[in-house]
Amino acid sequence: MLVFGANGFLGKRIVSHFRSKGHDVLSASHKGGADFHFDLNSACFDFFPEIAGLVRYGIICNSITNIDRCKRERSSTWSFNVTDTIRLVRIMREYGITPVFFSSDLVFDGEGGNYREEDVRRPTTEYGLQKKAVEDFIMSNCDEFLVLRMSKLYSPAEDDTSPIRNIIESFAGSRPVKCADDQFICPTLAEDIPSVLEILIGRSMTGVFHLSAVNSFTRYEMGKRVAGFFGFPAELVERCSISDFDFAEKRPLNNTLNSVRVRERTGFKFTELESGLALMSELNMKGVPGCVAR
Ligand SMILES: NC(=O)c1ccc[n+]([C@@H]2O[C@H](COP(=O)([O-])OP(=O)(O)OC[C@H]3O[C@@H](n4cnc5c(N)ncnc54)[C@H](OP(=O)(O)O)[C@@H]3O)[C@@H](O)[C@H]2O)c1
Repeated sequence: MLVFGANGFLGKRIVSHFRSKGHDVLSASHKGGADFHFDLNSACFDFFPEIAGLVRYGIICNSITNIDRCKRERSSTWSFNVTDTIRLVRIMREYGITPVFFSSDLVFDGEGGNYREEDVRRPTTEYGLQKKAVEDFIMSNCDEFLVLRMSKLYSPAEDDTSPIRNIIESFAGSRPVKCADDQFICPTLAEDIPSVLEILIGRSMTGVFHLSAVNSFTRYEMGKRVAGFFGFPAELVERCSISDFDFAEKRPLNNTLNSVRVRERTGFKFTELESGLALMSELNMKGVPGCVAR
C-alpha cells in the first residue's frame, strides 16, 4: 500500500501499524520524512511510474479537516479537498490502485443519528459537502474502493487534540469545560482504525463502511464520564448548548454512525470510551497532575 498524507494524525498510525505487522508500506508526504514527496496542490504525480504494479491500495489521508476553515475558505479548501483529491483518485485508477478514502459522519444532516452506510447523505456543512463530493466521484467511477466514514477520533498519544484530551487537560488544571447537552458524539479510538483497515484489506472488502465506536452520548455526558473516570469534581462539567459556541457554521446535532456492518463482516470490536480512557490514563496522562483513573 501507499499512504498519502503519511505524517498526519491518521496517516502516521496507519504507516506504523502496517509496518509493525510486516506489510509493505510506502509513504508519501508533503513534509518530508517519507518515501515520496507528495504535494496534493502541485498535482505532481511523477513517482507513479515507479510504483506501478507494486501498490494495490492508495490510502488517502490528505485533507483540510478544520470545519470552520472549509466554510471560511470555501474556494481553496474545495480545490484541495475535492478537485485535487479527485485528481489523485483518477491517477490511482489509471495505475490500477484501489482508493481508500477517509470520509466523515458530517456527510449526514445530523437530524437522526445512528446512520447506516446507505442512509441519505445531506451534509449541512461545507466540510461535509466536500467529503460527499469525493465520495460521489469514487462511488460512480471506481469498481473497487473503500470509503470509510469516521466519527471524531481520539488517542492516548501526545499528538491527540481531541475534545476528550482537551477536557482531561482542563480538568487536571481545575478549569471547567462547557459541554453541550444537545450534540451527540461517538468518539472513536484512532488506534482502532488501522486495525480494522487491516482486516478490510486482508479480506479484499470493497464499499462503504462506518468505522465508529458503538456507544454514543452527548458531549455533556462525555464530560461527566471523563470526570467520573479520572475522579475530577463533577462541577467542572458545565452544561451548555452547542449553539452557544461561535462557530462559522451551525453544527448538526446528531451525526453518530452505526458501525454494525463493519463489525458483523470483520468481527472487529471497537474500543469503548472507558477502555480508551484507561489507555489515556496508562500511556500518556502520567505527567498530568491529578489525572489518575479511579
Ligand atoms: N481525525 C479525526 O477525528 C477524523 C474524523 C473523521 C474523519 N477524518 C478524516 O480522516 C482523514 C485524516 O485525518 P487526520 O485527522 O489525520 O488529519 P490531519 O492530521 O489534519 O492530516 C491532514 C493530512 O493532510 C495532508 N496534507 C496537508 N497538506 C498537504 C499538501 N499540501 N499536500 C498533500 N498532503 C497534505 C497531511 O499529510 P502530510 O503532512 O504527510 O503531507 C495530513 O495527512 C481526513 O480525510 C479526515 O477528514 C478524521
